[in-house]
Amino acid sequence: MQLAIHGGMPYRTRPFPTCANASGRWLGEEEKRLLAEVIDSGALGRNDGSKVVALERAWAEMLGFGASAQPNGGAPLAAQAVTSGTAALHTAVASLNLEPGDEVVTTTITDMGTVIAILACNLVPTFADVDPRTGNITAETIAAQISPKTRAIIVVHLFGQMADMPPILALARQHGLYVIEDCAQAHLAAYNGRLAGTLGDLGCFSFQQSKQMTTGDGGLVVTCNEALATRARLFTDKGWPRGIPGLRGHLLFGMNYRMTELQGAVGLAQAGKLTEIVAQRRRTAGLLRQLMADIPGLIPPHIIPGADHSWWMFPFTIDQARLGVSPQAFGQAIKAEGLPFGVGYIPNPVFEYDVIRDRKTFGASGIPWTLPQARPGIIYDRRDYPGTLRFLDEMFVMSWNEGLTEADVHDIAGALAKVARYYRND
Ligand SMILES: Cc1ncc(COP(=O)(O)O)c(C=O)c1O
Repeated sequence: MQLAIHGGMPYRTRPFPTCANASGRWLGEEEKRLLAEVIDSGALGRNDGSKVVALERAWAEMLGFGASAQPNGGAPLAAQAVTSGTAALHTAVASLNLEPGDEVVTTTITDMGTVIAILACNLVPTFADVDPRTGNITAETIAAQISPKTRAIIVVHLFGQMADMPPILALARQHGLYVIEDCAQAHLAAYNGRLAGTLGDLGCFSFQQSKQMTTGDGGLVVTCNEALATRARLFTDKGWPRGIPGLRGHLLFGMNYRMTELQGAVGLAQAGKLTEIVAQRRRTAGLLRQLMADIPGLIPPHIIPGADHSWWMFPFTIDQARLGVSPQAFGQAIKAEGLPFGVGYIPNPVFEYDVIRDRKTFGASGIPWTLPQARPGIIYDRRDYPGTLRFLDEMFVMSWNEGLTEADVHDIAGALAKVARYYRND
């Protein structure tokens, strides 16, 4: 048998559906209909229309909050739509109203938006190592980062699998810390039946192009805490208490993170499909896990007991001893067979990006690390992160999507089996 990497025929020559375009997305007539309603109405801003508010209600209901309370503006208290996942995280962190120089523990493996939210509030990020099987932080690795300045934890549910939350929540309670769930990649993921975003003090979602549901860019913050919800709402609208009779002016520092009605229309249509989108992702990812379990030398994604994955990415590893090949060489071979898997999700732990390593934040100030209130001497050293390095070196990832069919999954498994067989030499 000759691998494509040696000049043979690739196992799959047609491209797979992708989230980057219509092939991997369920975007269609409902999105167009709601979008046309917005354009015909002439009301494109959230404060003049109804779609963003309806999207917030839909999400609040989907997460089981119901339209619990009616705050200023009449929208459900529990969900606040914003312009991106980064904006959602910034809003969530800002709503905690922490003091500059305070610390927030988060993960080494995430999108930079998670860390930008911390830095934007003049807070110092500290990083917990990850479980190399899942890429998620744990109560144990978080505990190792807690200092007298720590005030909050941002838990990222990586790739759509929730972190092991009960011990993390217990640790947070013990130390009096807020918990923000970064569910940007984990729409409708669950743990012991509880949905991502509903366990911490606040949950944040991203609707960027590649996420389970999309508005192109967009995001959402959820919380059951009335005080946090009020601050979050104000923060997204320049501190402006719209709709509260007798209250005028700007009550606190805030941004304009208002989602437009155009995004709201697409989001509302997408929210109506989200349960089925996630179910479809679970069907195809479940099939691949099953097929992969029968290919000696491949290690299917590790799912922690009680977790219901919602498959933003499909990760797996190889048994290097069994196959006698490095992840890099195996990765080149499966790519040549037409599979869109890469090794590692981001090239390095987030603290090695220029912005953090060189403290490129506010001019040459080095703020927040150099603030007089900040704990001195905080450094980030990759040698303290064995789980992270292992995960980044060994984990294969493929962006998952609802356009993938059973036939696509059989092709993926077939190509993986071909390459694994070659290296196993049987
Ligand atoms: C875990 C995580 N956090 C935060 C973000 C930021 O979201 P956005 O790109 O919508 O700003 C993303 C998006 O890629 C993400 O995956």
